[in-house]
Amino acid sequence: MAGMDVARHIQDRTPRGIAAAISRLVRSGELRPGDRLPTVRALAVDLQVSPATVSGAWQALAAVGLVESRGRAGTVVLPEPAAWLPPRYREMQTGAESRREVLDLSTGTPDPTLLPPLGPALARVAAHSPAATTESYLGSPLIEPLERLLRASWPFHAPRLTVVDGAVDAISRTLEQLTGFGGRVVVEDPGFPPVLDLCDQLGLERIPVPVDRYGMVPAGLARALRSDPQAVLLQPRAHNPTGASLTAARARELAAVLRSHRATGGDPHVIEDDHCGQIASSPDVSLGQHLPDRVVHIRSYSKSHGPDLRIAAVGGPAAVLDRLIARRMLGPGWTSRLLQRLLVDLLTDGDALDAVAQARRTYYARQRALVTALARHGLTLEPADGINLWLPVADESAALVRLAAAGVRVAPGRPFRSAGAVDHVRVSLGALSGGPAEVERVAHALATAAGARHTADTRPA
Ligand SMILES: Cc1ncc(COP(=O)(O)O)c(C=O)c1O
Repeated sequence: MAGMDVARHIQDRTPRGIAAAISRLVRSGELRPGDRLPTVRALAVDLQVSPATVSGAWQALAAVGLVESRGRAGTVVLPEPAAWLPPRYREMQTGAESRREVLDLSTGTPDPTLLPPLGPALARVAAHSPAATTESYLGSPLIEPLERLLRASWPFHAPRLTVVDGAVDAISRTLEQLTGFGGRVVVEDPGFPPVLDLCDQLGLERIPVPVDRYGMVPAGLARALRSDPQAVLLQPRAHNPTGASLTAARARELAAVLRSHRATGGDPHVIEDDHCGQIASSPDVSLGQHLPDRVVHIRSYSKSHGPDLRIAAVGGPAAVLDRLIARRMLGPGWTSRLLQRLLVDLLTDGDALDAVAQARRTYYARQRALVTALARHGLTLEPADGINLWLPVADESAALVRLAAAGVRVAPGRPFRSAGAVDHVRVSLGALSGGPAEVERVAHALATAAGARHTADTRPA
């Protein structure tokens, strides 16, 4: 209700108490999306507190996406985050309404200007393909020219290959084949939030293993294997959020740990999520080079060729893939053959190949530019690959508030963590396209935010 007497509902007059009272009013529906909050000055007078106290509460509410400051138009209540999103995605989707006014480095989507252009590829596909690309519902879900390209570039000999609707779809379908309710899965910590939600939804117990600059830590994996998991989920390169990539040596070490576990009777499958695919600068290393019968390797084309192709390739043992494909025949059946043809075109056309190579170089250059600028501000980070940077901060919510005030949005670190401290935020580079001045502005904002701590006046709810 616009114009309501908000002060009447506030007992605890600390920033935390004020923010909590407002968020209760939003949850109960007494304050609705679009309602304007009182001005900082007016509420400070009503509550007999300093304007900084109210302002701290407003900043904390903005940081979690409940309200948005619209300058002279005041601070307004935002629509609720989408109820159809799984829990960790919801946590990451803070303040979506205000994206226009900030530099949004919170979403992991690729820079649309770096994707290969679809127009010429669509025209070529339309000119050369018959109108109906599916002659039988019983044909292989993977078209033959795409299979040939995948075989030629797969990092190990995979007895079966197919394509599904993105990397998360591939992980979900593979986990369904390998595990059951109550089963155990080794996950990276930090890891990709939707995959953690997926494990929770499937009723799987997650066993977190730390990640260092070369990916999953072998000693952590050895410990985790004692609880007899059915699957080990890892990202082989351009890890989200840390940017870590397996070296050939680390892949060998992890495979050795799994092999010695095999000797004791355990035999989990490894699911590799190469979500950055061709925009990663690190080599396409896979544990499948050592354990070809236990590794399901996934390569997404979302970052390199566009999330709307919705295509990820999956390769691995026939025993897993045949069941996965058979199960999928009782649902979508196959990934659009038109889109598969489009992907084949984009994987063979010179201009499209150039565009993807250029994208890879550009993300690499953005990583280096930001890391170098951060070093000038006294923050030294490990070199990262892909489109994410994992920034250590003294206090996550203080950092988010500071960055929001500086017009920069990043993702909170909390949804990525299974265990351990919440002491990072994730910075994605898809939208960091503005050149050196923008990089400097962002580095300055990140470095300032990294050291920020909440004072008594700005502690969030
Ligand atoms: C680690 C990881 N896996 C999977 C995905 C999603 O990939 P896809 O679009 O192929 O489902 C992402 C997207 O950012 C990711 O970071």
